[in-house]
Amino acid sequence: MIVGLPKEIKDNEYRVGLTPAGVRALTDAGHRVIVERSAGEGSGFEDSLYQTAGAEIIPSADDVWGEAEMIVKVKEPVGPEYARMKEGLLLFTYLHLAPDHEQTRQLLQHKVTGIAYETITDRRGTLPLLTPMSEVAGRMAVQVGAQYLEKMNGGRGVLLGGVPGVPAARVVILGGGVVGINAAKMAVGLGAQVTVIDKNLDRLRELDDIFLSKISTLASSAYAIHGAISEADLIIGGVLIPGAAAPKLVTREMLKDVNRGAVVVDVAVDQGGCIETTRPTTHSDPTYYVEDVLHYCVANMPGAVPRTSTFALTNATLPYALKLASRGFLDAVTSDPGLLEGVNTYAGKLTYEAVAVAQGLDYTPVGEALGITPASSSTAGAV
Ligand SMILES: NC(=O)c1ccc[n+]([C@@H]2O[C@H](COP(=O)([O-])OP(=O)(O)OC[C@H]3O[C@@H](n4cnc5c(N)ncnc54)[C@H](O)[C@@H]3O)[C@@H](O)[C@H]2O)c1
Repeated sequence: MIVGLPKEIKDNEYRVGLTPAGVRALTDAGHRVIVERSAGEGSGFEDSLYQTAGAEIIPSADDVWGEAEMIVKVKEPVGPEYARMKEGLLLFTYLHLAPDHEQTRQLLQHKVTGIAYETITDRRGTLPLLTPMSEVAGRMAVQVGAQYLEKMNGGRGVLLGGVPGVPAARVVILGGGVVGINAAKMAVGLGAQVTVIDKNLDRLRELDDIFLSKISTLASSAYAIHGAISEADLIIGGVLIPGAAAPKLVTREMLKDVNRGAVVVDVAVDQGGCIETTRPTTHSDPTYYVEDVLHYCVANMPGAVPRTSTFALTNATLPYALKLASRGFLDAVTSDPGLLEGVNTYAGKLTYEAVAVAQGLDYTPVGEALGITPASSSTAGAV
C-alpha cells in the first residue's frame, strides 16, 4: 500500500502521525511511505530520519494526498485538506465528527473511508487510541498545576511537596480513571497530599491497592467534593461518562469556599468540563480566574508536549496502521470488530450511529455499508 504522512496544519498542532520507527515498520512490511517535507519537524523528527527509515520525502501536501492510498494523521482534516480528499481514500486519524458538520459533509461527499482513532475499541471495550492522550494530560495536569501555584504565575504560592516543617499541598483529583491515576502518580511523586474522588467504588479499591496509604480515596458525592476542595490547593478534573457531557461536580457556589489562588486544571474540558465555571482555553491564552480561583482548561493539553505525545499516540496507532496496510481495509476491519468500530464514513455513507444522531443525518450500520458480517471478537493489535 502507498501510505502518506502529511504535515499537520491545524493551528498549534506539532504532533505527527508516524515516527521514523513507524515508517521503518511499514517499509519493512513492503509498503511505500511518502512523507511531506518537514512533517515531523514539530516533534523533533528531521526528514533525514524518515529517509533513513525508508520513506520518500515529497515537497507538496497535494502530492502526498494525491498519491497515497492511506493517509495517517493526528488531527481531523481542516480547510485546505478537504480539497485533497479523494474517493476511496483511507483516512486514519482523530476525526471527532459529532460536533463537526462540515467535516462530516466533506468526508461523505468525497466518499472517503474515515477511520476515527477515538471510536476504535479493544477487547475490554475501552478506547485504546484515546488512552495515551489521557495519560499525557493526566501527568501534565500536575506539572501545569504546580507551575500555576507559583505566586508569579498567579497562584497562591504553594510548593506541592512542602518542606520539612511545612505541610505539602493538597491535591484533589475528580475521577480516578486514566487521567486520574496518572495525575495521582505525579502528585504523589512530588510529595503532595492526594485525594482521589470517584463514583466507582471498585476503581477506588484498585487505586487504594496501587497507592497503599499514599493517597486518600473518597466516594463521589456533592458533600464529599465540597469538603475536599475547600481545603485544596490544586483541583484536577478528570471525570468521564463516555459519549456524554461531563457532570458538573463542582458548582460556582462551591468555588466560593476554595482557597484564594488555588488552581483548577479541568482536563475534562473537552467533554464540557466537570467544574461549572470551566470554559475551553488555548495554549496561547490558557488561564482565567473565577471566584479568585485560577482556571486552566486547555482542550488539547498533549499538544504542548508533541514529542512525547507523538511517541505515545503512534505506539498505539501503529499496529492498526500496519494491519490496514498489510491486510487491506476490508480484511482488516472484518477480522477486528474493535477496528471496525472506528469506521465512521464509508463510500458516502455515515456508519457511526452517535455521529448520525448528533447531526440528524442518515445512519447506515457499518456491516451493511460494507456488506460484511463482523467477526465476534477483537484482535486489535495482533498484527
Ligand atoms: N484536555 C485534554 O487535553 C484532554 C486530554 C486527554 C483526555 N481528556 C479528557 O479527560 C477526561 C477523562 O478521561 P479518562 O481517559 O481519564 O476517562 P476514564 O473513563 O478513564 O475515567 C473517568 C473516571 O471518571 C469517573 N466518574 C464518572 N462520573 C463520575 C462522578 N460523578 N464522580 C466521580 N467520578 C466520576 C469514572 O468512574 C472514571 O473512573 C475525558 O473527558 C477525556 O476526553 C482531555
